[in-house]
Amino acid sequence: MAKYIVQKSGPLHGEVEISGSKNAVLPIMAAALLAEGECEILEVPALRDVDVMCKLLSCIGSEVKEDYENGRIVIRTDQIIEEQAPYELVKRMRASILVMGPLLARTKKAKIALPGGCAIGARPIDLHLKGFQALGAEIEQGHGYVEARADKLKGGKVYLDFPSVGATENIMMAAALAEGNTIIENAAEEPEIVDLANFMNKMGAKVKGAGTDTIRIEGVSSLHGTRHTVIPDRIETGTFMVAAAITRGNVLLKNVVPDHVKPVIAKLIECGVSIEDSDEGIRVRGDLQPLISADIKTMPYPGFPTDMQPQFMALLTTVNGPSVVVETVFENRYMHVGELNRMGAEIKIEGRSSIIPGDRTLQGAQVICTDLRAGAAMVLAGLMAEGTTEISEIYHLERGYASFAHKFRTLGANLMKEED
Ligand code: UD1
Repeated sequence: MAKYIVQKSGPLHGEVEISGSKNAVLPIMAAALLAEGECEILEVPALRDVDVMCKLLSCIGSEVKEDYENGRIVIRTDQIIEEQAPYELVKRMRASILVMGPLLARTKKAKIALPGGCAIGARPIDLHLKGFQALGAEIEQGHGYVEARADKLKGGKVYLDFPSVGATENIMMAAALAEGNTIIENAAEEPEIVDLANFMNKMGAKVKGAGTDTIRIEGVSSLHGTRHTVIPDRIETGTFMVAAAITRGNVLLKNVVPDHVKPVIAKLIECGVSIEDSDEGIRVRGDLQPLISADIKTMPYPGFPTDMQPQFMALLTTVNGPSVVVETVFENRYMHVGELNRMGAEIKIEGRSSIIPGDRTLQGAQVICTDLRAGAAMVLAGLMAEGTTEISEIYHLERGYASFAHKFRTLGANLMKEED
């Protein structure tokens, strides 16, 4: 299996262009199933997860034209030929669950392999199902699959016990073609939800309130094709901001929405990193003063994103003074701690909190990517560690970062991919 070999690198410098958002494009591709007509999606990042979604849509009956070189995908679904997502694809990508809402909306039937456990927690889908039930669907489970069926979908009211991103998206999509009005309360407020709502509204849907905790959807009888440009990836943005900080570098990030990374910017500033916002993008400088500790608590948007927790933890191992990180979104998102400790981080976990002593000179070691964002944290730590860091299981990184190694090398990182 392929590996990354990372050597201690000097301060990163130069410019990096951020790609379209993984977590926005996946639900948007699923929502294209709702349209009777062609959907053209632009700024699509070339990622393994996008590829899995293309395969899934093709097996459902969509005609999918991929043009990754130009960041473009065209999806047309004249007819649904298969109302199910097979285990083979769901096990490769949990976001496969996002086709359930559109399938239910369009054919009143959806069958999905249960995604099962995952490295960063149990990740159940009860809230998705609760939403479908509120729209009149009946749910049946068995043989590793969950099935939703309805004679007719009718608008309803659903309160989410937790503002789940995926559940909010799935319910929005199912409600788009339901009869009457749906209200989602305690909805997720992430920018990806707003992007999905914008896409759906361009298709003729009536979604209001996306980006707040109450989303109202007025059902319509059909949706048509459209053209949409995906928002920049705020987690890739955050990852490169932390890369500039951890190497005490000076990097200009282009194609970014500063508002989407406010909590990351706030914490970087607290650490002593300089952030300058301009028409060109965001300039991040970690070279102007010694960096210091900061405490972090992950929260649903607009709080500090759980998807930035591992990368930020890598940074906190290198700053002056101890920090505390509290993970409140996923119950088991500390798999990277063991790997950082192999590099000398000496982090201690107590329940949902972890204590990072800081002031460490990390040592290169053999480590693994335990999941996508943990993998990014390993690369960031490797850039600062003495000697060589050998990172295996990097397929996780390729799921979610476009041209990852190439972008880092352009900034001066000493990072090579070694094929087995
Ligand atoms: C999305 C993102 C992922 C990010 C996460 C939280 C995509 C493709 N993935 O994942 O990168 O880490 O948001 O910001 O957009 N939960 C339940 N029942 C449910 C659904 C969720 O209990 O039915 C719990 C989960 O176990 C977890 C929490 O809610 O503890 C957040 O999960 P959720 O917001 O649903 O995350 P995803 O949509 O899976």
